[in-house]
Amino acid sequence: MANTQNVERSLRMATIVSVGSGKGGVGKSVIAANLSMLLAKQGKRVVLADLDVGGADAHILFGMLNPPLTLTDFIARRVERLEDVLQQVSAHPFLQLIPGTGDTLATANLPYTKKKRLIRHFRQLQADVIIVDIGAGTSYHALDFFLMADHYLTVATPDPTSVLDLYRFIKLAAIRRVLSAFLSRDVVSETLSERDFSSIDEVIQAISETDPNARETASRTLQGFQPYLIVNRVSGKSRVNVLQLKKLLKEYVGGDLMMLGEIPDDPAMTRAVRSYLPVVEFEPTAPASLALEKAAQTLLTLLARPVTIPTETAPSPEEAA
Ligand SMILES: Nc1ncnc2c1ncn2[C@@H]1O[C@H](COP(=O)(O)OP(=O)(O)OP(=O)(O)O)[C@@H](O)[C@H]1O
Ligand SMILES: [Mg+2]
Repeated sequence: MANTQNVERSLRMATIVSVGSGKGGVGKSVIAANLSMLLAKQGKRVVLADLDVGGADAHILFGMLNPPLTLTDFIARRVERLEDVLQQVSAHPFLQLIPGTGDTLATANLPYTKKKRLIRHFRQLQADVIIVDIGAGTSYHALDFFLMADHYLTVATPDPTSVLDLYRFIKLAAIRRVLSAFLSRDVVSETLSERDFSSIDEVIQAISETDPNARETASRTLQGFQPYLIVNRVSGKSRVNVLQLKKLLKEYVGGDLMMLGEIPDDPAMTRAVRSYLPVVEFEPTAPASLALEKAAQTLLTLLARPVTIPTETAPSPEEAA
């Protein structure tokens, strides 16, 4: 009986897609907003959750300048249920928004267990897909929230610094993911969680002292780590050598990268932002809209595949203390 209940519950749980990047300003929020709208139009009940620590602005993209309630109200327990902060931001009934908190997430003392609890609340919303807009960068907050999803979407522009920052972001996420695979069941976890690692090999070496199967466990953990990539603002001249990036990531990070799409640099995107509408609504036939449609279709196919079970991620040194 208990088993049946568990199966039924897991069937109803929302699938979480996190959207992250190494560099800021590459288009995460507009892509998250547009994909949310497109999935809603495909009949999915979608919640766009703004977890951007530095610049929570997803609500502005929909013309909601002062959301009456935000995630802060839930974190600060001014409202009881996460559902209470859901906002209707468009005419589409299947799309809802959880406005972000600005600085509150960064300053709120959110230890690892509380982050996990927050994600658990997300998962239990009455929705099919939760798209979580994560802030740029590699803070523990950003990496933890990124890794707590079922599907990971990264965004970069063809700009070399953006590609380099993406590489760094994925590398640190992979290290944290591998580390966490050991931390959840290893007695030396306290010591390890307080160390900064710069490569997966370093993690493996540290673990090997107590766990002879460290290398095997690490490579198994990485097999399930397959972030998706959208390259945004592509123009005729600028293209990312995706094959080379994939090769580099495979070689030095261990994880595989799956291309979800390329979005052209398109003035319609700026016009749409200024009109407080997703470009797919504002100019559905613009090149960026058509590319976003394609990316949404690919994402839908990937969402239908069985997901790898999200790993535990380690508490940050401050949190472990
Ligand atoms: N494909 C595109 N073509 C033209 N302009 C774009 C495109 N994508 C994004 N932009 C512009 O870039 C701006 C920044 O995008 P966005 O706010 O989504 O970035 P972000 O990665 O979420 O930034 P942050 O890291 O600060 O949260 C948008 O307001 C828009 O004007
Ligand atoms: Mg943003």
